[in-house]
Amino acid sequence: MDTIETIHHRRSIRNFKPDEVESGLITQVLEAGRLAPSSTNTQPWKFVVVRSADAREALCEAAYGQKMIRQAPVVVVALGDRKRFRKWLRRSKELVDIGAVSDDVVNKVREVYKDRAKMSGEDPDRKITANCMIAIDHMTLAATSLGLGTCWVMLMKVDEVARLLRLPDSVYPVALMPMGYAIDHPSPRPRYPLDEVAFDEDLEHGWGREE
Ligand SMILES: Cc1cc2nc3c(=O)[nH]c(=O)nc-3n(C[C@H](O)[C@H](O)[C@H](O)COP(=O)(O)O)c2cc1C
Repeated sequence: MDTIETIHHRRSIRNFKPDEVESGLITQVLEAGRLAPSSTNTQPWKFVVVRSADAREALCEAAYGQKMIRQAPVVVVALGDRKRFRKWLRRSKELVDIGAVSDDVVNKVREVYKDRAKMSGEDPDRKITANCMIAIDHMTLAATSLGLGTCWVMLMKVDEVARLLRLPDSVYPVALMPMGYAIDHPSPRPRYPLDEVAFDEDLEHGWGREE
């Protein structure tokens, strides 16, 4: 399946067969997460692979009983890593060293980050979460192309999941991703048509128009 086909084929899967998923496939999915882009290449994520029935049951409870978490043979828990995110300067220097970005860009980033840090309401967790979500989406697409189904799950008691996995304060749960073989392939879910989401530039009139 090429990338465009994979994007069209992916669905949120909420009914899984009990069949185990081969370790090699799980590794390929995790690799897709690892290779995701991130701001200043901070890669502020960790992925925990949960397979035991007991742990899945506990995660299911923590996710308000969403049954696909109990049913899927594998649940990947995506974690945001605050310590990794704090290493953005080191990561940006690395990018300069390999010639991916220029020194000027790093200096600009440093200036902007400093300014933003001074502003109230700046929350690094928001950025960490945004980066993790990109990695999770990479994994959902990789899983699809390998014939596996997944579902994003963010409706969960975060503190409960953190407690179950005995997480230190420096990492926190972003999402659960149950993964396995789908019982069926659901029809596409509704989407706005392209002409309601994508527009040619209109610098004259701007964005004042109503829905
Ligand atoms: C950030 C995010 C959080 C989501 N959380 C949940 C969830 O907790 N439970 C669930 O059943 N689906 C969840 N979903 C799946 C959405 O309901 C689903 O993507 C949407 O209905 C479109 O369906 P599709 O993924 O099959 O195209 C989530 C999706 C995203 C992107």
